[in-house]
Amino acid sequence: MNETLILRTPAADEMAASTVVASARAPAAMGPPAGAPLALEVDRARKVFAKRPGLAARLRAGRRGAARAEAARAVVAVDDVSFAVAQGEIFGLLGPNGTGKSTLIRLMSTLLIPDGGAIRVFGRDVVRDEMTVKRMINRVSVEASFFKKLTPMENLQYAARLYRIEPGAAHDRIVAILRRLGLDDRAIFAPMEDMSRGMQQKVAIARAFLTSPVILLLDEPTTGLDPHSKRDVQAFVREMRDTHATTVILTTHDMYEADALCDRVAIIDGGRFVALDTPAGLKRTIAGPDRSAPTLEDVFLALTGRALEEGAAPDPS
Ligand SMILES: Nc1ncnc2c1ncn2[C@@H]1O[C@H](COP(=O)(O)OP(=O)(O)OP(=O)(O)O)[C@@H](O)[C@H]1O
Ligand SMILES: [Mg+2]
Repeated sequence: MNETLILRTPAADEMAASTVVASARAPAAMGPPAGAPLALEVDRARKVFAKRPGLAARLRAGRRGAARAEAARAVVAVDDVSFAVAQGEIFGLLGPNGTGKSTLIRLMSTLLIPDGGAIRVFGRDVVRDEMTVKRMINRVSVEASFFKKLTPMENLQYAARLYRIEPGAAHDRIVAILRRLGLDDRAIFAPMEDMSRGMQQKVAIARAFLTSPVILLLDEPTTGLDPHSKRDVQAFVREMRDTHATTVILTTHDMYEADALCDRVAIIDGGRFVALDTPAGLKRTIAGPDRSAPTLEDVFLALTGRALEEGAAPDPS
């Protein structure tokens, strides 16, 4: 049986000293289940963002000094990350804010070019075979863009045309999906700019489910949704996987959602993976508070060190 892969970080070391009951460097745990074809291979991916100092700072520092300052302020958003996902897997990326989850999703979706390493979707390189990869993926993010003066129906009909779906068939599918996500007919035919953020998010999700993408990249798809709508989206994701063998990469801050949906979960901190296993495997690695059954949130807090920071006394300065 695979053991959870826990990589060395200060938080992981702390955890090892106190709560870990079973951990091992076991690269086998990184692999997807055997048998299914590989949908996604991420091989030592790296992304660095240069943070440009402001104009005043550049003038003060001169050309050489500004270049040095720029290098010093560079952010390594994704730092040498490797993993593989099998077709039909639902793979979760969990991590504190600003740790590289969305950057990794953007690299997979060809929106960003990696500074190092390689990413392949069904063997196609995201940089060299960009157009082929684009046709295989669909991405949902919290900052989805729409024509705000148009209605959800008009926006989704526009998307359907791009996907070459026949308008009549698209209409019925759009109404069915939006109703299932809890949008009533009035909202379906009202301008997007009049809708709440959660309602707009539902339209973004509906757009991703219009077609049957080979790979669905869901960057916080359920953030801002009420519990009923969350359940509906989760059911959609499962259905898509079960009926079309869609591979799903999901980021979420909802640990219960990750536990319920994901076959495997990677925990990312500072642009690096600190653990990778099934939710059950991850939970086996720690003893819960007061010896109760640990939750995925317990694992997250232990591995990313946030529990200690939250419990720390406030800085008096
Ligand atoms: N376009 C960009 N230019 C410069 N820095 C960026 C850019 N996009 C992301 N970053 C930086 O890269 C790091 C990772 O950001 P990213 O958006 O991937 O985090 P995240 O894990 O998705 O966070 P969250 O949970 O808040 O969504 C952060 O330090 C962020 O400031
Ligand atoms: Mg993000």
